[in-house]
Amino acid sequence: MTMNSFANKEYLARIRGGDFAHPGEEEAIDLVLSYLRPRSGETVLDAGCGRGATADAIRKKTSADVIGVDLDAQSIGYAKATYPGTRFEAADITMLGEMALPKIGAIYAFNSLYACADLDGCFSAFRRISNAGARAGVFDYIAYDADALADSNCLPSSVHTTAEMRQIPERHGWACTGIVNLDLDYAIWYRRFLSRMDENRAMLSAVRTPDFFDEVRKTYADMLRCLEQGTLGAALHTYVHVDA
Ligand SMILES: C[S@@+](CC[C@H](N)C(=O)[O-])C[C@H]1O[C@@H](n2cnc3c(N)ncnc32)[C@H](O)[C@@H]1O
Repeated sequence: MTMNSFANKEYLARIRGGDFAHPGEEEAIDLVLSYLRPRSGETVLDAGCGRGATADAIRKKTSADVIGVDLDAQSIGYAKATYPGTRFEAADITMLGEMALPKIGAIYAFNSLYACADLDGCFSAFRRISNAGARAGVFDYIAYDADALADSNCLPSSVHTTAEMRQIPERHGWACTGIVNLDLDYAIWYRRFLSRMDENRAMLSAVRTPDFFDEVRKTYADMLRCLEQGTLGAALHTYVHVDA
């Protein structure tokens, strides 16, 4: 099942206790910031910002000018209404080059590129909108065994491999500067997520239906099993935009 619809992200936000649709919530944000180090006043892009809490938290923590972009216009409408101090735009991130954006100094993406099959399109667009020397940080799932992952049906088939995360950005002038392995962190975070679901079963079943609760729980239990079996992993990849 896809959890990227507006209604399903709202459900995830209830489970996580904040408008996040990535594992690790605030802890993950601090991890990414410790590598990306946005500067005060720098223009920073949140690629696939969802409901907007991450972009708003990063703006407040760093005083950077954060712009959140997401395909889902309903989530962008929600983000604009809920976090008025941060700029949000509804768009496909592969089309960022067509938008009138200021030059970007840093880009980050929390669990959004896995859902986009066109990784070439993403990094090509990132290059068009960035300053030379811009940094990027991609916090995301990694497919270690794409066939086994497809059989589990817990994520779309577009989850990228480690080789893709190295080679595709490179083609568009993004040199990989570091890979932080998060396989075990994701397993810990998804165990915590399932515990939160179980603790709040009555409330979460009432918000939608008990069958929906069971379906969501099964999706995340399958994801945790993939993480434990090593068919799925996770990493923070960092990149720098190099001159051609
Ligand atoms: C799992 S959610 C993560 C949202 C947010 N980054 C967070 O951590 O809360 C993935 C988001 O990526 C967005 N997305 C996927 N493909 C996209 C694309 N090509 N352009 C813009 N947004 C995209 C989806 O609409 C969804 O809101």
